[in-house]
Amino acid sequence: MAYLLSSYTPNNKIPDTYVQPPEKRAGPAIKANVPIIDLDDKESLVSQIMDASKDLGLFQVVNHGVPLELMSKAMKALEELFKLPPEEKAKINKEDDINNVCKMYTSTINYAKEDTHSWRDALKLACDSLETNLKFWPQNPDNFKDIVSEYVMLVKELLSKILEYLAHGLGLKPEYFGSGFSKVISLVANHYPSCPDPSLTLGISKHTDPTVINIIQSGRVPGLQVFKNGQWFSVETPPDSFVVFMGNQMEVISNGKLKAVEHRVVNSTEARTSIVFSVFPSDNSVIGPAKELLQADEKPLYKTFGYKKFFETFSGPKPEGQDYEDVIQALKIKV
Ligand code: OGA
Ligand code: NI
Repeated sequence: MAYLLSSYTPNNKIPDTYVQPPEKRAGPAIKANVPIIDLDDKESLVSQIMDASKDLGLFQVVNHGVPLELMSKAMKALEELFKLPPEEKAKINKEDDINNVCKMYTSTINYAKEDTHSWRDALKLACDSLETNLKFWPQNPDNFKDIVSEYVMLVKELLSKILEYLAHGLGLKPEYFGSGFSKVISLVANHYPSCPDPSLTLGISKHTDPTVINIIQSGRVPGLQVFKNGQWFSVETPPDSFVVFMGNQMEVISNGKLKAVEHRVVNSTEARTSIVFSVFPSDNSVIGPAKELLQADEKPLYKTFGYKKFFETFSGPKPEGQDYEDVIQALKIKV
């Protein structure tokens, strides 16, 4: 059984299984200049979003329609969840939850097979159908379900708005992402406990996400970094805004116009909690460069594939010496 760090954080010494090999440890990072996009500024919104997505691959949104008070309450509810005593947290993963609607785990879902563990606990909540999923959500803290479900509904509206703007910017129908490409939505709350020596560990190592897009709420404690042109940049995540970035599926559908963002999380001597919403294609969707773009005379730069198979290869343990980058490389058509 893998112990949650938030229940048993070792006091001063990092266990060897959490010490990253020297080449993976985080060195200094430059502060990223993340564009701030005001969603009330309808005039140049689409072009601002497209420019930001093409450049660093991520942007911050303000005037996003989710009240600050609700954002703080949701963050607090999730932070409290990680502070519950171990015996309460043990009740979160339920045996009859066969679809893993609600799952708390430590490091990554591949804990048993990974070489080095990540300094992170996580709670994944499936958010697509609140009516059927809510019964598996945590009962404790008391008001958890009420607060988090209200918050989820508003963030889902925000996600659909952003996907509409992106579709527009790509020259696709506004509802393009509204069907099978955005049915599956999950919330992952990441908790990175205070770390006695952040230079040795990582909260999450370098990766891209197997999603269409992601949106993150976090607080003042820094941690998120993006990799661009061979350089790491640290990203600020003010508590009143959301940071949006692209996943692999958006890169493929947009035929490379919008790139998936390589990122990681570094630890800190202060604990940090982030809330990440991910939009996934449904298992039965077929992903490839949008036909509409190819009809407009573009050459496909990516293969077309079934999402389920991709996800299994991407998320599962890889053959010796391979990682997520090999899975992504295999999707690219060599030109
Ligand atoms: C993730 C992730 C970033 C963060 O959960 O995949 O990249 O800031 N999280 O916690
Ligand atoms: Ni990620």
